[in-house]
Amino acid sequence: MVAFLPSVGSLDTGPTVKGDGVFLRTPTMNDFREWSELRAESRSFLAPWEPIWPSDDLTRQAFRRRLKRYQREIREDLGYPFFLFRAGDNTLLGGLTLTHVRRGVAQACTLGYWMGAPHADRGHMTKGVRAVLPFVFETLKLHRIEAACLSHNIASIKLLEKTGFIREGYARNYLCINGRWQDHLLFARVLEDHLGLTGDGAAPAS
Ligand SMILES: CC(C)(COP(=O)(O)OP(=O)(O)OC[C@H]1O[C@@H](n2cnc3c(N)ncnc32)[C@H](O)[C@@H]1OP(=O)(O)O)[C@@H](O)C(=O)NCCC(=O)NCCS
Repeated sequence: MVAFLPSVGSLDTGPTVKGDGVFLRTPTMNDFREWSELRAESRSFLAPWEPIWPSDDLTRQAFRRRLKRYQREIREDLGYPFFLFRAGDNTLLGGLTLTHVRRGVAQACTLGYWMGAPHADRGHMTKGVRAVLPFVFETLKLHRIEAACLSHNIASIKLLEKTGFIREGYARNYLCINGRWQDHLLFARVLEDHLGLTGDGAAPAS
């Protein structure tokens, strides 16, 4: 275990991050029913933008395996998976993950997200990403957060631009999405953007 982890959250519960009307917390087994129902109901909305779902993906057993993987990632400082909830009634809205944490000379991670179809386009993920940025730069003390999306994923592009990510490039056949290797746009936000030390994207637009 790395030295800074105790400040990130208990290893049993993982970190919780508060946002504006939303909060992010590490998934637990108690989330299984709500998560599987939301994912099932959102399948056709999410499938074009995600890797192919394993056939047993929505089973309790697969969810248990997923949680074990999450706990190992948190313990080893490799990733920080979150579910996004509405504050007040604690409704599960979607998920946001920080993966591929690279320490050493990179100090970087990769952002991923999904929103349940009934909750999409209501500003929730904008709030989720805004909430997680201080966690990335100030709690985890990373220097860079990266994200990639398909060039026709307008919602994802708008989300990244709104939250201060800068488009940096284009990667051919970058990820296997919905069963096909597909080109992606590459975005990132660096610590200097977060601190307001750079021109473009110094602060996320409100
Ligand atoms: C991408 C995604 C997570 C965004 O979550 P969200 O909660 O709907 O996003 P927000 O409501 O905070 O909106 C962010 C921006 O996207 C826009 N947007 C949201 N849905 C949109 C849609 N279907 N078409 C066009 N723009 C859309 C919003 O209007 C907003 O931009 P604006 O305020 O400048 O108009 C969600 O649309 C989703 O899960 N999509 C399917 C899966 C996916 O794309 N995953 C990411 C792969 S990279």
